[in-house]
Amino acid sequence: MTGDHVSINKDIWNTDAPNWAKFAHRQWTLDTPEWGTWNNSDDGINMLPATMTDVDAIELGCGTGYVAYWMYRRGARVTAIDISAEQLATARKLATQHSADITFIEGNAEATGLPDAAFDFAISEYGASIWCKPETWLREAWRLLRPGGRLVFLGNHPLSLICSPLNGAPAERVLHRPYKDMWGADWTEVEFEPTGVCFNLTMAGWMDLFAQIGFVVTRYQELYAPNDATGTRDEVPADWAKDYPVEQVWHLAKPG
Ligand SMILES: C[S@@+](CC[C@H](N)C(=O)[O-])C[C@H]1O[C@@H](n2cnc3c(N)ncnc32)[C@H](O)[C@@H]1O
Repeated sequence: MTGDHVSINKDIWNTDAPNWAKFAHRQWTLDTPEWGTWNNSDDGINMLPATMTDVDAIELGCGTGYVAYWMYRRGARVTAIDISAEQLATARKLATQHSADITFIEGNAEATGLPDAAFDFAISEYGASIWCKPETWLREAWRLLRPGGRLVFLGNHPLSLICSPLNGAPAERVLHRPYKDMWGADWTEVEFEPTGVCFNLTMAGWMDLFAQIGFVVTRYQELYAPNDATGTRDEVPADWAKDYPVEQVWHLAKPG
């Protein structure tokens, strides 16, 4: 596949969007959030403030918009941006069905074009957090946040990437890739479940980047599959994800 990561990922998500409509419908009807591949209960994860009245919130890479809706239900004024018109079509349809007044924007989370310091809270669940270049989208999130604002994002744990075979087969209890100099992975040509271009960093790489930009880490979490999980999701077997962290959640603050 040719092109830059933004246009590659845009095309892939426009093609894949119909496959996410059923999941989106389920997510929009949840009373409490569930996070990540294994639908972890929000208990103890708490990616969202309990109440968001008068909070200006943005979701970066909103997909079908269910996280945006959870913030809306907590009282936030919500803007949500995504590069895929087809994903946004699902999000807008569900927003109409749920009478949710959310501003959905088609655009690149690495360069939103939105004003400086317009938001108190930014979030990404498998959106910009994995599909955008870390140094680019994190600087954009910093620009969008007011002093005192917070950014929370969830993505693949580096360990799940290095245990994934190069052909995209399910993760194994074996190190298949180097950890040093990790930047992510190009999944466009793999044998199993080809998709787009994703980004990740080593733990030290993330910490260095946050410090360079000015973000302060307020919490870091590693997510596992729940004890009753079975099967394989997104090329990660439940048994692997019960023993190794499949996802990470960073909670960051822009000092006031
Ligand atoms: C797995 S979805 C995650 C969003 C949401 N949590 C969901 O599951 O519906 C990934 C989304 O990231 C979007 N995306 C990828 N690259 C992007 C970019 N550069 N800017 C904005 N959105 C992007 C895709 O279009 C896709 O809708």
